[in-house]
Amino acid sequence: MKALEEKIIADGIALGTEVVKVDSFLNHQIDVAFMRAMGQEFARLFAADGVTRILTMESSGIAIAYAAAEAMNDLPVVFAKKSRTNTMDTETYAASVKSFTHGTTSVAKVAKKFISPDDVVLIIDDFLAHGEAAAAMTSIVRQAGAKLAGIGVVIEKRFQGGGDKLREEGVHLEALASIAKIEDGKITFC
Ligand code: G4P
Repeated sequence: MKALEEKIIADGIALGTEVVKVDSFLNHQIDVAFMRAMGQEFARLFAADGVTRILTMESSGIAIAYAAAEAMNDLPVVFAKKSRTNTMDTETYAASVKSFTHGTTSVAKVAKKFISPDDVVLIIDDFLAHGEAAAAMTSIVRQAGAKLAGIGVVIEKRFQGGGDKLREEGVHLEALASIAKIEDGKITFC
C-alpha cells in the first residue's frame, strides 16, 4: 500500500536496525481515517475468503482489526488476551508467545465460546516480526478446529523471517507494507 509506505517514511522513526516506531498513527495515537483506509484494503485482499471472524492480539492489534472488521460487513473481532501465567483452564484456548522485541514470554488466551469449528478466521495484527504472535494465534485457530483464512499485517519486517516461515507453510499472508531493511535511519521497502 503505497500510502502506508509514504506515511512510514514521513512519520516513522527507525530505531537501530530492528525497530520502526509508528506511534503517531498506529501504536500510540491512532489516525482514524488512515486506519479505515487500511481496513478497507484488508477487506479487498481477503474478499474471496469467506471470513466469518477476525482474531487479533491485545493491544495494538485491536484498532486495525476493528477497521478491517467494519470494512467486512461488521464481522466480530476477538482479541487474544496476554497473561503471564498459564493456569490450566478448560474454558480457554491458550498458546505461549515469546517476544523478541520485549524479551518476554506470555500466554495468549481466547475464550472457547468466541471461536467455533464453523468459523473462517482472519488473523489481523499491526506488526509481523519473528512471527511469534502469528504462530500463537494460528495455534488458537487450530485448537478451535476453525479454518484459517489468512493473516493480514500492517507492517511486516521481512528481514526478521516470520513472514517467510508462514508463506512456506502455505498461509495466505498479506502485508500492507513490507520492510526489507532498516539502516542508518533509513527504511527500505521490499
Ligand atoms: P513477533 O510476534 O512477530 O515474533 O514479534 P516480536 O516478538 O518481535 O514483537 C513483539 C511486540 O513488539 C508486538 O507487540 C509487536 O507488535 C511489537 N513490534 C515488533 N516489532 C516492532 C517494531 O518494529 N515497531 C513497533 N512499534 N512494534 C514492534 P506486543 O508485545 O503485542 O505489544 P502491543 O503493542 O500490541 O501491546
